[in-house]
Amino acid sequence: MVRMTVTADVSRTPVSKDLAERARLLAENCDEWLHRVRLDPQGRWYERLHADADHEVWIISWLPGQSTGFHDHGGSAGAFAVALGSLKEVAVNGNGTVSTWTLEAGQAHGFGEHYIHDVRNVSTAPAISVHVYAPVLSTINRFDLSPSGELVTLKTEQSEEW
Ligand SMILES: [Fe+2]
Repeated sequence: MVRMTVTADVSRTPVSKDLAERARLLAENCDEWLHRVRLDPQGRWYERLHADADHEVWIISWLPGQSTGFHDHGGSAGAFAVALGSLKEVAVNGNGTVSTWTLEAGQAHGFGEHYIHDVRNVSTAPAISVHVYAPVLSTINRFDLSPSGELVTLKTEQSEEW
């Protein structure tokens, strides 16, 4: 069994801490979802495992080089846990600077409702992660981050598009 840890960021809230624990436990119990995982060379693969009135759970697979791009979560708090491999996270701070770190298998990270990040598989091996959002995602705003640290909104996606 992999020893899981939970990390924090400046926007972490009690809610996101709970979500990180939920993601951590789900990532640990791969028997519940491993048979559903696919790998897609065209882009990261994802599938919703669960949704109810309070939260939803997604599983995502990442081949080397696949990434999300910068995005928010439309006002939802969230968390993700790495179940296999490693993922690099680039979080945008309030002053436009970025913080970067790598989450290894066994690590989870919760974030608040105003969080903007990019998640990437920069390794040479596939990765799998479990994501939890509360409330259920309704929109996602996608951004470009200019060299000067300015976030430029590219588009807003509605949940029907996923
Ligand atoms: Fe995200």
